[in-house]
Amino acid sequence: ARQFFVGGNFKMNGTKESLTSIIDNLNKAELPSNVEVVIAPPAPYLSLAVAENKQKTVFISSQNVFNKASGAYTGEISPQQLKDLGVHWTLTGHSERRTIIKESDEFIAEKTKFALDSGVSVILCIGETLEERQGGITLEVTARQLDAVSKIVSDWTNIVVAYEPVWAIGTGLAATAQDAQDTHKGIREHLVKTIGAEQAGKVRILYGGSVNGKNAPDFKDKVDVDGFLVGGASLKPEFVDIIKSRL
Ligand code: 13P
Repeated sequence: ARQFFVGGNFKMNGTKESLTSIIDNLNKAELPSNVEVVIAPPAPYLSLAVAENKQKTVFISSQNVFNKASGAYTGEISPQQLKDLGVHWTLTGHSERRTIIKESDEFIAEKTKFALDSGVSVILCIGETLEERQGGITLEVTARQLDAVSKIVSDWTNIVVAYEPVWAIGTGLAATAQDAQDTHKGIREHLVKTIGAEQAGKVRILYGGSVNGKNAPDFKDKVDVDGFLVGGASLKPEFVDIIKSRL
């Protein structure tokens, strides 16, 4: 069985004070021992998060990473530097980076590969826009995004896939549990074809997009929804309810 996974993407939010209090709240919570939790604070606060976190099941993630170890790459962060700080996860391919920063499928794939080769695990984010959804090409888009990675990465052991439909991010309009399940199933079937049934059966596929404490339990019985990637609600006490939503 795939272990339930809950990620918190803080995006470009928070201060020393607010992030310390969010992590303190997590420290005080009684978290289930069988749920893997990964929180991604903004880069300037990664060290603070590593230092403050006392939970053995909570790990710290970067929101971004570069595909080189060091050098003249102003503003970028290498996986080697992340590991040096005690950070063993990174997101790649978040839709905000795909659309606002204009990262390509290929660049995202290269960063994913370099992070994995450097020993940093990856939450690979994929998902379609509203227009693509309405055009009925959701699974084509997610396949294209995945294929860029599977073309150059053969070992998917340390990848978690986060399916985040762009129309559901920050809108309050989460996909229904059944919609998420249908897409996750399609994503897994595609992975069976590209990385093989054994690996595809083990990859966790998270749902992201307006997940909150209230709707998280709706996804409980959906066999291909292996967890969540949470934005806004990960900054609030209800993040703990999401972590506990499978109890
Ligand atoms: P929201 O939970 O705020 O919709 O954001 C989802 C997301 O983009 C997580 O990466």
